Amino acid sequence: MRTARAQNERVSDLYDSIWGRGSHPELSAETAKLKTIFLDRNIPIRGKTVLDCGSGSGMSAVAFAALGASEVVGVDYSMEAVHLARSTAGRFGFRNINFQRHNLLEPLEMERQFDIVYAFAVLHHTGDTRKAFGNVALRCAPGGVLSVSLYLKTWLTAPWKAACLSYQRSPLWLRRIFNRAAAEFIRLHDRLLLSKKSVIIDHPIEQQVEEWFGMPIRSHYRYEEVDRWFREEGFSPELVLPRIARFKSTSNFVMNGIKS
Ligand SMILES: C[S@@+](CC[C@H](N)C(=O)[O-])C[C@H]1O[C@@H](n2cnc3c(N)ncnc32)[C@H](O)[C@@H]1O
Repeated sequence: MRTARAQNERVSDLYDSIWGRGSHPELSAETAKLKTIFLDRNIPIRGKTVLDCGSGSGMSAVAFAALGASEVVGVDYSMEAVHLARSTAGRFGFRNINFQRHNLLEPLEMERQFDIVYAFAVLHHTGDTRKAFGNVALRCAPGGVLSVSLYLKTWLTAPWKAACLSYQRSPLWLRRIFNRAAAEFIRLHDRLLLSKKSVIIDHPIEQQVEEWFGMPIRSHYRYEEVDRWFREEGFSPELVLPRIARFKSTSNFVMNGIKS
């Protein structure tokens, strides 16, 4: 049985390989996402302090700063993510953004609290989502907002996990062929069927396929379960987006909670 730490390292290695390629979403896509999650719900960003948990490429942190956040701290367990995020923030010329390496399964060392704590598509990769949720919830100031996005549990979750296991056990050459074929299928699907408006994740499709199938740790949740976590930690929750991606079975949902 692998230890939690070894599993975390495997997730971090996968993200090292993704972020090491330097790919990231467009700034306009990230600001649009933050407008939907915060500004459209009358949650201001201007002048607020932000903790971006699982900051990845750093583009969300840059988008927070572009929308007027006074300070953004990003944490991620992948060192490549931290390097890429630093160079992304530098490229856009923001000096009020800092990134550091941190495993969200551990309590955050900083004592301070933030007006906005943002954990987009990360907690479900830690191996103990509830614990990581508690760790990030602690860093939210009273009256502040915690926003999380997590994989939605559907009837397809169990067969999906079996498919992921076979993918991960396949030789690299087979995974590459599968990845290319799946990416082509999704492009065709998007051209023929997709209402683009329903998709707010803008990562390259090959990267998304790799994340869907190759991820060593990936947990799925129902809305009610996460609603309960928010209440247990002293937040008033609101389901913001029931689904954000093209397929429900691979989609995250987004929930915000205001801390009392
Ligand atoms: C799907 S990406 C999301 C990145 C970013 N939040 C975004 O919306 O583009 C998940 C990120 O979580 C990070 N991550 C995974 N497990 C983690 C952990 N235990 N602690 C901190 N970060 C972790 C990964 O390295 C990766 O950058």
